[in-house]
Amino acid sequence: MNEKKTFYITTPIYYPSDKLHIGHAYCTVATDCIARYKRLRGYDVMFLTGTDEHGQKIEEKAKAAGVTPQEFVDRIVAGEKGILDLWKLMNISNDRFIRTTDEYHVKSIQKIFKKMYDNGDIYKGAYKGMYCTPCESFWTESQLKDGKCPDCGGEVHYAEEEAYFFRLSKYAKPVQELLETGTFLEPASRVNEMINNFIKPGLEDLCVSRTSFTWGVPVDFDPGHVVYVWVDALSNYITALGYMNDEYDDFEKYWPADVHIVGKEIVRFHSIIWPAMLMSLGIDVPKKVYGHGWLVIDGGKMSKSKGNVVDPYVLAEKFGVDSLRFFLMRTFPFGSDGNFSNELLINTINIDLANTYGNLVSRTVAMVEKYFGGKLIKDRSADALDDELISMIEQTSSAYSAHMDEFHPHFALEEVFKLLNRANKYIDETAPWILAKEEENKPRLASVMYNLLEAIRVSTIMLTPFMPETAEKVFEQIGSDKNSWDDACRYGALDAETTVKKGETLFPRIDMEKALKELEKPAPAKAEAKPVLPNVDIDHFAACDMRVCKILTCEAVPKSEKLLKFTLDDGSDKERTILSGIHKFYEPEDLIGKKVVAILNLPPRKMMGFESNGMLLSALKEVDGKEILNLMIVNDDVPEGSQLC
Ligand code: MSP
Repeated sequence: MNEKKTFYITTPIYYPSDKLHIGHAYCTVATDCIARYKRLRGYDVMFLTGTDEHGQKIEEKAKAAGVTPQEFVDRIVAGEKGILDLWKLMNISNDRFIRTTDEYHVKSIQKIFKKMYDNGDIYKGAYKGMYCTPCESFWTESQLKDGKCPDCGGEVHYAEEEAYFFRLSKYAKPVQELLETGTFLEPASRVNEMINNFIKPGLEDLCVSRTSFTWGVPVDFDPGHVVYVWVDALSNYITALGYMNDEYDDFEKYWPADVHIVGKEIVRFHSIIWPAMLMSLGIDVPKKVYGHGWLVIDGGKMSKSKGNVVDPYVLAEKFGVDSLRFFLMRTFPFGSDGNFSNELLINTINIDLANTYGNLVSRTVAMVEKYFGGKLIKDRSADALDDELISMIEQTSSAYSAHMDEFHPHFALEEVFKLLNRANKYIDETAPWILAKEEENKPRLASVMYNLLEAIRVSTIMLTPFMPETAEKVFEQIGSDKNSWDDACRYGALDAETTVKKGETLFPRIDMEKALKELEKPAPAKAEAKPVLPNVDIDHFAACDMRVCKILTCEAVPKSEKLLKFTLDDGSDKERTILSGIHKFYEPEDLIGKKVVAILNLPPRKMMGFESNGMLLSALKEVDGKEILNLMIVNDDVPEGSQLC
């Protein structure tokens, strides 16, 4: 027996984020549609997705939330409305899910790193740059803001950190040759971008370890170093198949990947760094990297702070998951950016799904019920009017599959809709309601109905990867069990005496005005509830000296956008100076004379040339991506120096 051909397809592994928007779903839905299509074509598909959980940012966010990094990522990946929930909602059919914190992956990364070190492609050097001590971050000259740290506005100084480097420069030539093959990276426009912007100016060796944070895969032969997140992340594509681990054993079967589907901003990592790493490891490079465009809003980046507009949960609940999946693939050419809008979404559903597809199904099923009691008779009578529709039924699948094989789902769907539109026109041309008036026309009427059912059946097979749940319902309504790919290429596969069954309306028409109004209602301002920090004992609390202070003077610190400098009466006979980064929220003149709360016994800290002796207390909350900060201001009659207890 012939073995099935394999097809290995991946999405990027996602950063754990609780701000997932419809743009994130775009990439995974597209990959899912292609994976489902390949299964339909009889391939043994391996569809991998997962999460990219290490790095300094996660470490910092976990710290701010008062939990361990592992607890933090667990909540976002597997918690309510986390990544796993989102893929369930979007009906994603991945075969495997990898987390970079999975133990087998971590161990494999250590072996991969060691292998590249042993073969001389990783060497020890020094990471050099401008360093901000409070932020523990290196910055390049161009990242600095007025010579200061772009994060905190503080002073930076030149520093060097011991680090490992990967000899990326050694692979510049073979990677360029690979890019020039013309099939490795698509769309073709991205090839020149990679060569001109990154390879031609000279590929520098890549820093692949850090020592300033710990949330990463430890370099096992040099404690203190953790592996650079992209080396860790990219390798997921092979560790998830069992490369350098015993967790899985299908590396031989599926590698090299048939395609990595990735967003355009990470093409560079996948088409330059990743092949160079694989060359170093002596492994085949993937057959293709496909860099898709972005969903944007009014030409700008999408973000969840834009409210209901881009929340996949809101959109899926309102319009249905299949409609949303279909819209994403039908509307935008995959390689280019697409401008998302609610109007476009609603129009696509109304025009393509309600008017064209849904209507064709419901009219046809209703006519078979009305004229034949639901069961078509065997007697047929052909007519020249049928020829064009029948030839489209026979030919659409090959045009469709050519586009799908090229990763152009948008064009593939265009072919299906040509067929559906032709079928709707065929109803007008054949006018079944007139044929139905004469009993002698019954065989002709049966032919017309059969041809319509065939057009629906064949189209629905091709729509299955995009709208799997809807397809099932349609097959049931038209009484078809001939729904395999071979059946999609064949006019006449449907049983001659097929029985139809009316079902629910597949795509109710959406009232544009009403739906827009509902969607544009501002999302409820629900701030993220942070978990309560672990207990501290009363002595620790009592050790914090917090007192009411009166603001005597307040002024902006020169050359700083954030800092205000306060002199305070803390109840003692000496004025106290405190600097606070709250200029974004308050103007100095509004604060003079107010009574605030400060913690006094923090170690003095130098900021922008001034010494700060303590910290003002304020309440901070992030609502819809916007920070809301309020200084703790107390009543005027509270004497300065009063202690918080
Ligand atoms: N963790 C890295 C990938 C490592 S792969 C070895 C990463 N993660 S991500 O969560 O930021 O992005 C995941 C995918 O979502 C990327 O392909 C990215 O392009 C895609 N999208 C994020 N926003 C998008 C849009 N607005 N539109 C389309 N895709 C976008 O990058």
